[in-house]
Amino acid sequence: MKHLNLKQILIPAVIVLSAACKQEIKEEYTMKREIFGEINGKKVELISMTNNEGNTIKLTNYGATLVWLEVPDKDGNKENITFGYETLEAYLRGDPYFGSVVGRYANRIAGGKFTLDGVEYELAINNPPNTLHGGPGGWHSVVWDIEIIEKEGEEPSVKFTYISPDMEEGYPGEVEAEAVYTWTDENELVIEYKCSTDKKTVLNITNHAYFNLHGAGNGDILDHELMIAAGKFTPVDENLIPTGELRPVEGTPFDFTTPHIIGDRIEADYEQLRLGLGYDHNFVLDNKSEPDAVVYEPESGRVIEMNTDQPGVQFYCGNFLNGLEKGHGGKIYEYRSGLCLETQHFPDSPNKPEFPTTVLEPGKPFTSKTVYKFSVK
Ligand code: BGC
Repeated sequence: MKHLNLKQILIPAVIVLSAACKQEIKEEYTMKREIFGEINGKKVELISMTNNEGNTIKLTNYGATLVWLEVPDKDGNKENITFGYETLEAYLRGDPYFGSVVGRYANRIAGGKFTLDGVEYELAINNPPNTLHGGPGGWHSVVWDIEIIEKEGEEPSVKFTYISPDMEEGYPGEVEAEAVYTWTDENELVIEYKCSTDKKTVLNITNHAYFNLHGAGNGDILDHELMIAAGKFTPVDENLIPTGELRPVEGTPFDFTTPHIIGDRIEADYEQLRLGLGYDHNFVLDNKSEPDAVVYEPESGRVIEMNTDQPGVQFYCGNFLNGLEKGHGGKIYEYRSGLCLETQHFPDSPNKPEFPTTVLEPGKPFTSKTVYKFSVK
């Protein structure tokens, strides 16, 4: 994190020679804000941030969403590698989770019910028989407020905030949520969350970005190599609800503790792959060393290194994509053409007292940080 010339915010990109004048051309860090649309009288913006390497990400405050992330391959060819749409209307019609922040409870809550201090709460069922990603009106579908945080000598951050009212989607407590994105000159996408409540509630917040290192819409991700530093995963039942077991990955197609090509074992004769329709599982991170996960695609040479302070990561490989979604440049997002590494607490924790707690209490804000670092080899 370095080198932000604050005057460059809102000023179009300028090409400057490096200080050493070695014929090396660098772009200065820029940020641009445009109107993307309006929902119920609230402005929706598209914010573009270009780092000193000339690589751009785009965000919108609709769902605190990552819209675009463009990084070079090993030959320097830049391409957007995350799923997104070109217009706000397309976000309203399309897959609700492309790049968005999901909350108040990411992934599934069994039967859309949980009990807290003896009171049963009922949520809307949007993924029968369960509640998925907060419910139909979850945080992916609301307009967040925007604040630009300028830090002397560092890249700026975009802070999205949302006040989720008491009993919204059936959850108790008014929650003040923050999702702060920083795009560094080292091609790191840093996402930091902070959430506080005025009444006891449950919380699990993540980002649902899909990645394809060939470029979004350029084929499937089955040839990507994956490492996840997780010695265990949480097996699921036929409704994709964890059974409560923490199963060692050793000797199973879920062992990514050393790098494996995703497609190599995805069709293996293993019950959990049949239940998940492929990989769609929470991995219990060892949290012992860095990185927590690495994705590598040999043709482009692109690499993602992921680090988080969360206990789990949902590795989902687009088993429910069906080629109906058209994103940037009219490209079609086919079956298994994107992968997600959603850093999180375990699904259905409110109904699984044996899992790390997801209870949020007044006066004890939840904070977390996930970094996706993009490079080539
Ligand atoms: C879940 C999938 C679900 C997808 C929706 C993932 O987090 O694990 O089961 O279909 O989100 O985009």
